[in-house]
Amino acid sequence: MFRQLANRILVPLGLELVRRHPQVIPDPLPDDALYTGPEDHARLFRPWRSPGFDRWFTPAVLGHTMLSRQKLYTLMQSIRLTRGVPGDLFEAGTGSGGAARLMLDLSRELGVKRRGWFLDTFAGYQKIDAARDGSHVAIDQCKLAPRDQVIELLRDPLADVHVIAGLIPGTLDEVKADRIAFAHIDVNLHEPTAAATRFCLERLSPGGMIVFDDYNWPACYAARQAIDVACREFKQELISLPESTQAVLFRQ
Ligand SMILES: C[S@@+](CC[C@H](N)C(=O)[O-])C[C@H]1O[C@@H](n2cnc3c(N)ncnc32)[C@H](O)[C@@H]1O
Repeated sequence: MFRQLANRILVPLGLELVRRHPQVIPDPLPDDALYTGPEDHARLFRPWRSPGFDRWFTPAVLGHTMLSRQKLYTLMQSIRLTRGVPGDLFEAGTGSGGAARLMLDLSRELGVKRRGWFLDTFAGYQKIDAARDGSHVAIDQCKLAPRDQVIELLRDPLADVHVIAGLIPGTLDEVKADRIAFAHIDVNLHEPTAAATRFCLERLSPGGMIVFDDYNWPACYAARQAIDVACREFKQELISLPESTQAVLFRQ
């Protein structure tokens, strides 16, 4: 009764009084520090914060990506899970290249030699469908690093790396991948998300995975619509990751 009355005042202010359920926590937890975090006060395991991951989150990676450690962890585990799957690496929306660098680093450590296709305008948004993407996005937004800098960052003697500049869908013709093992799609907007998703689903090997960065982010609702349409067309389902903007598709 008190909670209901209080919530009449609190909820319009964006707050809510909730009952706290007592948790049974073994004491002491061996890695207790990994169960707390500024992003969520709930006691959740956050493996990406453990020291074992620090060596992967180098300045070359963290200094050149918009992705959090949590999101990079999803990419890393997906690369691990697809290590035996035939096909190339693909990324739509490479930005400054930090996430791509991590994908290449981990593939090398796993002993997986792959071709990598990394696509971006390298000039931010250059085409917007205002009716779908909304009026909150504008040409030239999301401009990260120029292509030359990304080529330098992704230089890799053991991988066959292709950094392709220009607008998706047009540049997809330059991607000579018959099979894709793992794809990361992070272009925010409807048209390139739709085209890149279809392109990948046409080529995704059984056991292959796609991580969509923008699925749960309301500002990218148009990207989610594009992904849902493509998934229906290809009869695929995905998992929207709780407490993240990401979603994951695993091809059976
Ligand atoms: C959120 S950023 C990518 C962030 C990056 N994955 C990272 O790790 O930081 C989105 C990217 O999509 C690119 N982009 C948007 N529309 C595009 C299109 N039609 N073709 C190619 N790239 C596009 C932008 O230039 C921008 O770099």
